[in-house]
Amino acid sequence: MSILQVPLSLWPAILGVATLVYVSSLVVYRRFFHPYAKIPGPFLPAVTRFYEWYFQSIKPGQYFKEIERLHNIYGPIVRISPNEVSLSDPSDYDKIYNVSSGFFKDPDFYNVGTGTDNAMFSQPSNEVHRRMRAPLSPAFSRKSILEIEDLVQAKVDKLCAILQRNIDRGVGTNLEQIFPSISLDIVTDYLFDDCWNFLDDENIGWFFDIMRSNAPRMYNMQQFPWLDKPTRKLMPVWIAKLFEPRIVNFLQFHQKNVDMIQKIKTKFDAGIKPARPTLFHTLLDPNATDGHVVPSLMDMVDDAFIFTGAAADTVGNTLLVASCHILTDPDIYSRLRGELLDAFPDPSIRGKWTEYEKLPYLTALIKESMRLSFGVICRLPRCAGASGATLQGYFIPPGYAVGMSAYMMHRNPEVFPDPDKFDPARWLASPEEVRAREKCLVPFSRGSRMCIGHNLAWCELYLTLGTLFRRFGNLTSPEFGPEDLVWEDSFASRLPEGSRTLMAFGSK
Ligand SMILES: *[C@@H]1O[C@H](CO)[C@@H](O)[C@H](O)[C@H]1NC(C)=O
Ligand SMILES: *[C@@H]1O[C@H](CO)[C@@H](O)[C@H](O)[C@H]1NC(C)=O
Ligand SMILES: *[C@@H]1O[C@H](CO)[C@@H](O)[C@H](O)[C@H]1NC(C)=O
Repeated sequence: MSILQVPLSLWPAILGVATLVYVSSLVVYRRFFHPYAKIPGPFLPAVTRFYEWYFQSIKPGQYFKEIERLHNIYGPIVRISPNEVSLSDPSDYDKIYNVSSGFFKDPDFYNVGTGTDNAMFSQPSNEVHRRMRAPLSPAFSRKSILEIEDLVQAKVDKLCAILQRNIDRGVGTNLEQIFPSISLDIVTDYLFDDCWNFLDDENIGWFFDIMRSNAPRMYNMQQFPWLDKPTRKLMPVWIAKLFEPRIVNFLQFHQKNVDMIQKIKTKFDAGIKPARPTLFHTLLDPNATDGHVVPSLMDMVDDAFIFTGAAADTVGNTLLVASCHILTDPDIYSRLRGELLDAFPDPSIRGKWTEYEKLPYLTALIKESMRLSFGVICRLPRCAGASGATLQGYFIPPGYAVGMSAYMMHRNPEVFPDPDKFDPARWLASPEEVRAREKCLVPFSRGSRMCIGHNLAWCELYLTLGTLFRRFGNLTSPEFGPEDLVWEDSFASRLPEGSRTLMAFGSK
């Protein structure tokens, strides 16, 4: 009997059996014969990515906490999905994330869901990344950032003026919006010579919904990376809107980046010199570095998109955590004020970044705020290079993923006793203790893929907190307290939908 003679009525049963055989062989393979078969961990994440999907998409954004729970049960190495393990011993961090590391970025994790394949950030290859980073690096050096201190300070002064205006009117200021706004105004002014002026806009709630609205797509695409490109290219906006109405905000944000780069390119092509050449003028210059290839317009949009997206949340969250504790803990507030007013008794004198940096309590407060805002809260998976790697006694074959997270590094109870407690004094302990803690403080990650904007972030944090709390001695947050700082993974940390908002009030 040939296959064509099988009666139609039998086909569903045949397909059912075939599926069953396929799925059960996959389960048996993944659990018992896969290169990660011996790595500790529960059954479900070893055989299916739906385990992760449940915590990311249904919970949502809670897999970082589940991974911590698994480490508490299974130890410093855990299999968290069929092809990925997680590590928790801080001494492993520098083995994965260092300048000469052979580990490369997991393409299924970073490239999906945002549509920024051509950004420097998204490149799996460290070599390609190095080439792309070379012309960008000078703009982010400490020296370059010191030169734009006035630009940063001008935005901080604007923020203080807004607070004062609101105090005079007897209304509160939404710090949760104003902090990402200042970071975006600084980055867009500096990188694009085209300030978005979000500080002036009292109605930018739409903007802060953007990353939130993209998170569900990102989680789904991380589970099914092969679906990413087809759905991105083919799915019409009106269908996307059915799944996530706020996708419109995301597209609007993308368009803002396109417009901005288009404007720079049009002027560049017309030979119009800017007052201050920006990073994108450097990229458009074929002579920028040896072997530099001028990127296409859309490639530069990918970078712009990553820069703006990264700037908003990370610095914004650190300022939010710091202010929340300052405003609700009188001891922290008065100790910080005391230090600032001792250092700068004359309110009319501007403080410099290099001066604020020397203040021990302010510095401790910033580090503690970075520690508990995490930067990127989820794990950052990397794939082992050509010769594989051995970690915690297990072999990681080439191309297989391992990851660690700032969430676990920053909450390691041996390094940070009582890890959930906000305690700036931990950064004022003995030099050995502080060094050990600094080794575990990774809000920017480490190594060749470390966040390119870290100097700018430090500068913004010092100038904003220093100026703000020299100027205002009486801000209060009647509604929002440390108990509201409960994070969700949206790549960067994010307060869950429907959380209370940090509103600052002052007395006249
Ligand atoms: C950097 O990573 C590689 C593995 O990719 C490792 O062999 C090396 O020891 C690491 N360097 C440091 C300083 O930890
Ligand atoms: C790049 O360098 C070449 C040779 O020095 C010069 O002719 C050309 O004008 C330069 N291009 C730009 C855009 O500056
Ligand atoms: C805070 O306000 C009170 C009265 O409202 C005032 O007496 C005090 O001096 C203010 N403190 C600071 C540091 O501005």
